[in-house]
Amino acid sequence: MTSTHTVLGLETSCDETAAAVVRLDADGRVEVLSSIVGTQVDAHAPYGGVVPEIAARAHVETIDAIAAEALKVAGLGYGDITGVAATAGPGLVGGVMVGLSFGKAVALARGLPLVAVNHLEGHAVSARLAAEIPYPFLLLLVSGGHCQLLEVAGVGACRRLGTTIDDAAGEAFDKIAKTLGLPYPGGPALERLAEGGDASAFTLPRALLGREGFDFSFSGLKTAAARLAETVTNDIERQNLAAAVQAAIARQLGERTERAMAAYAEEHRDQPLRFVVAGGVAANGVVRTKLKTVAESRGFSFDAPPLAYCTDNAAMIALAGAERLALGISDPLDAPARPRWPLDAAAALANPIHVHGRKGAKA
Ligand code: KG4
Ligand code: ZN
Repeated sequence: MTSTHTVLGLETSCDETAAAVVRLDADGRVEVLSSIVGTQVDAHAPYGGVVPEIAARAHVETIDAIAAEALKVAGLGYGDITGVAATAGPGLVGGVMVGLSFGKAVALARGLPLVAVNHLEGHAVSARLAAEIPYPFLLLLVSGGHCQLLEVAGVGACRRLGTTIDDAAGEAFDKIAKTLGLPYPGGPALERLAEGGDASAFTLPRALLGREGFDFSFSGLKTAAARLAETVTNDIERQNLAAAVQAAIARQLGERTERAMAAYAEEHRDQPLRFVVAGGVAANGVVRTKLKTVAESRGFSFDAPPLAYCTDNAAMIALAGAERLALGISDPLDAPARPRWPLDAAAALANPIHVHGRKGAKA
């Protein structure tokens, strides 16, 4: 690395309009100068999920004010930034285009380099916003649209070990929460309901238990939970079912991650073993605790981003961009917005069934 990069990050791939300023210095030190997240939760809540057209319009209406706010909080003007990083996918393409076009306009007007960032690469570096975590590390990326185990060897160098064969973990949280009558977004609401619940009050299926490989599956759990939700008659039972669902999701994440840790450790003998969990579901306390226990038992260090950087934000996009700029990598101003964009393209092509996660909002 040769110089300091002060990067404006922009994130508009789903239902948060976010902008941030992150500084990466020549020694690799990271400083988040600002991180503004404008949520659209209220606009989508009546529909029980993200409505793409509403999201895109809301991004258009707020992106300039949110970017201005990010600069103001950082105490900087457009003249002080050295690069622009905007999410270019995967996500709702109408929204992606808003942030990416805004980023291109800033880059063009100011003569700055642009980085078209893969949203998943943003999540992959998000724990590095608050802790020094050298490459390589084993990553569990668990969000509303993704549930993947990846070996992250360096900037842009991800190898996918496993992914979900049906729903993402966050999607399972959201859908089950809906059957329990909880508001969107379901994950945090289900976690609150589960507090004090007895997870052992319900028995739920254990998908892929002991099965070869590192893939995930949550559709059986979703179906079983939906059926049980219909039989629940009082608040205590609802609370218990929420706790059981949360424990079942955490358990599967723990089991599959533990298998991947064993394989990763084989391949990285005599090297530091690092594990990172990122994405919206990493905000869940029970999930974090489970994964921390598994990591400790397998001799891995454990890191998770601070809660504000688990769910979608632009600081992680700015850092992903800064890391690329530090390596001399930037993108042309005609970089496309991409609805689908796997981190490990080779793995996705080799196993096309795995390209299909959520279709729509978070794909
Ligand atoms: O990373 P993210 O903000 O967006 C995507 O890129 O998908 O993740 C959002 C997902 C949603 O499914 C949401 O319900 C889930 O993360 N989530 C949680 C929690 N906070 C967010 N799931 C369980 N417990 C939470 N505390
Ligand atoms: Zn995300």
